[in-house]
Amino acid sequence: MKIIVVGTGFVGLPHAAVLSEAGHEVYAYDIDPVKVAAYESGDPVQIERYVNEPGLAAAVAETLSRYLFFTTDISEIIDETDVFFLCLPTPPNRDGSTDLSYYLNAVHDIAELLAQRKIKTRVVLVNKSTVPVGTARLLERIMNEHGVENFGVASNPEFLAQGNAVEGSRKPDRVVVGADTAEDFEIMRRVYSQFVNHVRIRYLETTPETAESIKYMGNTLLLTYISFWNGVGARVAETFPNVRMEDLKIGVTSDTRISTWGSYVSNGAGGSCFGKDIQSLIYQLNQAGNSTDLLQAVYNINEYQKTYLIDRAIHEAHFNFNQKTVALLGLAFKKRTNDMRDSASLKAVEALLSRGVKSIRAYDPLAMEEAQRSWFNPERNHLFERISYHDTAVEALGGSDALYISTDWEEFRGLSRTIEKTVAPPYLVIDGRRMLPDYETLMARGYQYLAVGGPLLTAPSSSEAHSDNGRVAGKDATELEKQAA
Ligand code: UGA
Repeated sequence: MKIIVVGTGFVGLPHAAVLSEAGHEVYAYDIDPVKVAAYESGDPVQIERYVNEPGLAAAVAETLSRYLFFTTDISEIIDETDVFFLCLPTPPNRDGSTDLSYYLNAVHDIAELLAQRKIKTRVVLVNKSTVPVGTARLLERIMNEHGVENFGVASNPEFLAQGNAVEGSRKPDRVVVGADTAEDFEIMRRVYSQFVNHVRIRYLETTPETAESIKYMGNTLLLTYISFWNGVGARVAETFPNVRMEDLKIGVTSDTRISTWGSYVSNGAGGSCFGKDIQSLIYQLNQAGNSTDLLQAVYNINEYQKTYLIDRAIHEAHFNFNQKTVALLGLAFKKRTNDMRDSASLKAVEALLSRGVKSIRAYDPLAMEEAQRSWFNPERNHLFERISYHDTAVEALGGSDALYISTDWEEFRGLSRTIEKTVAPPYLVIDGRRMLPDYETLMARGYQYLAVGGPLLTAPSSSEAHSDNGRVAGKDATELEKQAA
């Protein structure tokens, strides 16, 4: 089939590459000529500068110029195209609503071109990026307004998690296609022929509005799991003495009805999807006069989580950040990506700078270029000059007064030894991801360990200044003890 993928970001590029693997003739279209040239080069370094996904550069190189083509101009290739996948950015507006300007600009351009087609074969326009419920209907209206003939609209939300986009596209757990006519469902079945009637993949055909809603429901439920664990599970383990977070997690999730996903307590979930999608669903439901208390609480818990460890460091460890140097390990919103959108590290840096830190020594295996170019560019805020970038975790630790672990990169699991070799106790380790399995050894050697899902741990010898007998003062005097007294 002849397919045009509009937008070549985290959604569009892996999608285009995997579609081309299935033998479709795929044109990946983007308005940015520099990006297109980078993809066309087939050079992994250039490709990964834009989208860094395991296996993606290889997948692009594999079918490049045979089945996969990149272009900044679709006017010449628009005839006889079977399907358009719209993979455009849909960022949030300040009020939580979805900014559809990129999407609408592209849709109007495509509508104009389609209206002038010479050969009017059936074309299906598919919304792949996350758009508010009712957007497929809006797409239909715009096409009609431009006089486009013989077209259908569909919603086919993408359920990929970053870091697994290529494998996830090759082996999805479900494919949801929302369309209106048998003809359009048939075209979509041909696009996804390898997934239809697959023993393991659920191929669901439904209405466009249901498909759009499935995407929002899926992401808000996932964030609800995370907020449950961060806002309740972690809090239980931090509050009551002798509760072990790891065991709590295993014990609860061993119930076959409860998934382990979401139970990895953290300094808040980031990324381009969860925060944006829950805000958008809140906005859409509010607009219709509904109450959204649960969704609002889920969102608030997640935002609170992004800086609360810094507050705990001040109040529980009595750490004064003013004029201190903090090593920041991890900038990306999760491991295996260079994406920093809505990353917890953004809020952590903001909080550290507002508390007067002298410098932040940052390290991330993939996201440092992204950080310097887009997020912590001193032209945006001169305080970002206080951030320095280091090639290794050891280098970032050198000369620091405290450590903040923000991303769950696997390599941080072995940090305890590095800490012991690089910085002397009593040094404060703030662990937003519970990355250090041997935190008790660290504590025994005199380091202070403050992690999500646990009390402040300090060695008994250095305890007077910071806590009571290795526990946070006041927290082990439970209500029960008070009552007994
Ligand atoms: C998320 C969803 O998982 C995908 O199903 C969805 O398709 C995608 O959004 C999207 O709408 O495009 P993604 O944003 O790539 O995917 O990342 P996740 O792996 O879900 O992680 C999101 C955040 O939650 C990360 O910061 C991660 O570290 C955090 N997280 C995840 C936790 O804090 N605890 C967990 O147990 C799991």
